[in-house]
Amino acid sequence: MATLHQVTPTDGAAVSELAVTLGADLVVIGPEAPLVAGVADAVRAAGIPCFGPSREPAGIEGSKSFAKDVMTAAGVPTARAFTCTTAEEAAAALDEFGPPYVVKDDGLAAGKGVVVTGDRDEALAHAEACERVVIEEYLDGPEVSLFALCDGETAVPLQPAQDFKRAWDGDAGPNTGGMGAYTPLPWAPEGLTEQVMTEIVLPTVAELAARGMPYTGVLYAGLALTAKGPRVIEFNARFGDPETQVVLDRLETPLAGLLLACATGTLAAHEPLRWRDGAAVTVVVAAENYPGEPVKGDVIEGLDAEVPGAYVLHAGTAFDPAPDAGGRIVSNGGRVLSVIGTGRDLAEARTRAYEAVGHIRLRGSHHRSDIALRAVES
Ligand code: AMP
Ligand code: GLY
Repeated sequence: MATLHQVTPTDGAAVSELAVTLGADLVVIGPEAPLVAGVADAVRAAGIPCFGPSREPAGIEGSKSFAKDVMTAAGVPTARAFTCTTAEEAAAALDEFGPPYVVKDDGLAAGKGVVVTGDRDEALAHAEACERVVIEEYLDGPEVSLFALCDGETAVPLQPAQDFKRAWDGDAGPNTGGMGAYTPLPWAPEGLTEQVMTEIVLPTVAELAARGMPYTGVLYAGLALTAKGPRVIEFNARFGDPETQVVLDRLETPLAGLLLACATGTLAAHEPLRWRDGAAVTVVVAAENYPGEPVKGDVIEGLDAEVPGAYVLHAGTAFDPAPDAGGRIVSNGGRVLSVIGTGRDLAEARTRAYEAVGHIRLRGSHHRSDIALRAVES
C-alpha cells in the first residue's frame, strides 16, 4: 500500500523538501493546481527529475488566453476567440460569433468554468461573473481526448479516448469533470493520431520550447473533430480524468520508466509503446448532488464484488473515521469511484463495467447509463 505523506501539494518548497528527504528518483505531479503554482520548478531546482510542466508552460491549461496565444503562434487549429474583461466587450464578442455561445473563465475552474448555451443572457451572465473570459466560436463535432507524453522536445502519443462531460444520459445536464470514458475509438478517422501529432502536439511543443519554456509532462489535447478537421477545444497540463483510467489500462509498457524518460529528456531513446488488444470502458459513480457540492460520508458497499475483467479505482473515497468503522469506506468527493470494464471489444468491456457498477451501493449516487453506448451500437 502507498504511504500518504502530509504535505500541501501546491507548496513547492514543502514538496521538494519531502522528495529530498525520501530520496525520490522521480516526482510525478498530477493535478493542475500545483503545476500552475510552479511546484515542478521547485522540484527540478532541488535536482530531482520531475514529470509535469514548469509554471510557465503549465499556463497552457492555467490561462486560456495564453493557450490561444501559443496556438496562434504555432499555427495550431482552434476556435477563433476574444479575451474580454468588460460586459461591453463580452456582448460584442457574443454577437460576433452568434449562438451557440461558448464562454470560458480565463483561469482554472476545475472543469466547471465553461458555459456552452444558446441563451445569450446566460452567456453574458457567466461572462460578467468571471474577471476575464475567453469567448469563442462553437466547434461542432465529436470530441476526442489525446494525451501526448513530452520531454521538452520529443512527444509520444497515447491511444485516443472519449470522455462524457455532461452529468446525465444523452449529454444532458451540467458540465462535470467527466462521467465516463472509453478507448479505443472504432469510429475515429484513420490516421487521426498522426494528424493530431503533426498539426497540433508537435507544433505546440516546439513553440513552447522556442519560448524558453520546454514542456515536460503530459500534454492533453481536448479536440473537436469538425468537418474541417481536428480543432483544439482546450489543452490541459496533466492526465485527464476519467480518460486516463481506460488509456492506462490498455498500456502494456511500464509507466514509471516512461515518465522518467520524459523527466530526464530521454524519450527519443525509449522503446516504442506497447498496447494491449481490446477495449476498456469506465463508468464514474458520482455522489449525490455532484457536480454541485457533493454529499460526503455515505457508506459504499459492494466494493468487494468480483466481476471478471472489471475493477474499481477509488477517487473520492476515505476510510470512515468513526472509531468502530473497521476499515469501512465512505464517499469523500464528487466523483467517488471509477468502475472499469475490459474486454475483447467495447461491447464486452461495457457490459462488464456496468455489471460491476450494479454491485455498488452508495446512497444518493448517480452514474450515466450510456457510456460508450453509441460507439458499441455503430
Ligand atoms: P473545457 O473546460 O474547455 O474542456 O470545456 C468543457 C466542455 O465545453 C468541452 O468538453 C466541450 O464539450 C465544451 N466546449 C468548450 N469549448 C467549446 C467550443 N469552442 N465549441 C463547442 N464546445 C465547446
Ligand atoms: N476529462 C476531462 C478532464 O480531465 O479535464
